[in-house]
Amino acid sequence: MNDTINENSDIIKVGDLVLVYVKERTSWLISVHETYEFHTHFGVIPHIDLINQKYGSEYELPNGKKALLLKPSLRDLINFFKHQSQIIYPEDAAIISLFTGLRDGLRVIEAGTGSGALTAIIAAQLMPSGKVYTYDIRESASNTARKNLEKAKISNVEFFLHDVREGFFQDQVDAIILDLVDPWEVIAHAWDALASCGTVCIFQPTYNQIEKTTLALDNHSFKRIEVFEMMRRDIQIKKGAIRPSTRMIGHTGFLIFATKTEKTTKTEETTKTEEES
Ligand SMILES: C[S@@+](CC[C@H](N)C(=O)[O-])C[C@H]1O[C@@H](n2cnc3c(N)ncnc32)[C@H](O)[C@@H]1O
Repeated sequence: MNDTINENSDIIKVGDLVLVYVKERTSWLISVHETYEFHTHFGVIPHIDLINQKYGSEYELPNGKKALLLKPSLRDLINFFKHQSQIIYPEDAAIISLFTGLRDGLRVIEAGTGSGALTAIIAAQLMPSGKVYTYDIRESASNTARKNLEKAKISNVEFFLHDVREGFFQDQVDAIILDLVDPWEVIAHAWDALASCGTVCIFQPTYNQIEKTTLALDNHSFKRIEVFEMMRRDIQIKKGAIRPSTRMIGHTGFLIFATKTEKTTKTEETTKTEEES
């Protein structure tokens, strides 16, 4: 995935973004301005201190702790996005990217926009000539996402304030990605908007939703229906005690993928009842 900012310079200048990093949950994203200062619980960082420093160099905080001045990646920028709702987890976003085949030049629909975290990840992979059409029903979500993406310098996104249960404004798109409560209401519109062999991806947190969604996919002749979940297990790096961390996020959501083909008869797999299988 691309770094989206500060790509060409190793020296921090006015207007650049810097990740002042002590450790994973103790770091700050600063947009550098000559006269500003940044207040942290480790003391005040005058922005002027950062100007002309080299990215990757060490910086001493007012309390004597050492920080690193890092070039923020897209992952870092998203960590500092303003939240409107639960954002997509990296392990889910990564597999969504692979299974929908995201690459430069594609046209992709996404709903709902939420805070724009998944929008940013999709858009970064479609650059420079591809585009995301992102839909949300809530103006506040759309506005927050716009600001988040502006900060991340991602511009190949068109925003729509619209209930997608009423349909999409595009057709012949390469993929459709849905992260909203009732996607089974949107499957017919997804079929109409997708190009042949296009992929629909649906992210949902509960088993109850999966049943409704997969039935809707089958009823609309989608094929190659797959459902699974991703789990990330962190490993503690400690001398003499390298082992899985005792804490873990046990559930993010389920992922459903399906492909639009020519309308054919139902597949055996999806039409089997419980007794038959
Ligand atoms: C969980 S959030 C999406 C988070 C997003 N994937 C992210 O990573 O930031 C779900 C969003 O779907 C929107 N939504 C729900 N139903 C919708 C509908 N019928 N049409 C458009 N947007 C909808 C909600 O307003 C909400 O902002």
